[in-house]
Amino acid sequence: MKKYLVIGNPISHSLSPKLHNYWLKQNNINAVYDKIKLEEKEIEATIHDIKKQKIAGCNVTVPFKKKVIPFLDKLSIQAEQTQSVNTIIFENGKLVGHNTDTFGFDKAIKSLNFNMKGKKILILGAGGVVPSIVFAIKKMGVSEITISNRTKQKAENLKVLFQELNILEWGNLKNFDVVINATSLGLNNEKINLDFSKVGKNKLFYDVIYNPTETNFLKEGKQLGNITENGASMFIYQAFEAFKLWHGIEPEVNFETLKLLKND
Ligand code: ATR
Repeated sequence: MKKYLVIGNPISHSLSPKLHNYWLKQNNINAVYDKIKLEEKEIEATIHDIKKQKIAGCNVTVPFKKKVIPFLDKLSIQAEQTQSVNTIIFENGKLVGHNTDTFGFDKAIKSLNFNMKGKKILILGAGGVVPSIVFAIKKMGVSEITISNRTKQKAENLKVLFQELNILEWGNLKNFDVVINATSLGLNNEKINLDFSKVGKNKLFYDVIYNPTETNFLKEGKQLGNITENGASMFIYQAFEAFKLWHGIEPEVNFETLKLLKND
């Protein structure tokens, strides 16, 4: 039986096994998908197991999306430009790193039918998922992309990958058309201590977090008269694209799939 994995640290919260195992069963694929918490020094050996095909493929989550890169033979364009890998496949004798988070974010926005053309975008945070979001947004014809992060230097560092980014001091909110929460604030019901009334009304408030379903950031965005969306479909579509890369099949995305993420 083929074995797939998601590696990260922490990993207990990951819903990837639930989603992939559901799709494996639905498509009668004789394989199993597991999660493993790794220490950094164990990454190389785990990736070696993919080369030996003891493990058929692997998803990578925080904090290893960049750290796996030195052990791979080839990167997709998305992985190269974001310096971030979330899916590893073994193809023609080579270990290839892909980034399907970019696809996930793109699909999530498209399924909202929200037109990003000419819009001013603010991303809060500068952690692991942000390069993937910037990569996807750059292709949407937006007018500007601004990053605001508590630790300003980390936002500045992102300019090495994307020179066109604007950096905004944490706490200095102003008018934007879209605000994306890519910080970890909200995972444990924390509030983001920013004055969101400065953003204006009828904007899009998007949270990468999907559990809880409605973070305080989204609650406040809604109260202020904005459209809100959580990260559930981004999560599902990054998994969809990884599944397609490994198995050559597009798994079904429907109400049942969304429910899988809510039952936890
Ligand atoms: P990593 O930084 O290891 O990639 P992450 O979960 O991807 O981890 O990112 C966490 C993000 O949430 C960071 O942007 C972090 O800001 P810092 O770079 O300043 O640490 C942000 N974050 C976490 N706690 C925060 C807080 N209390 N206030 C503001 N931002 C916070």
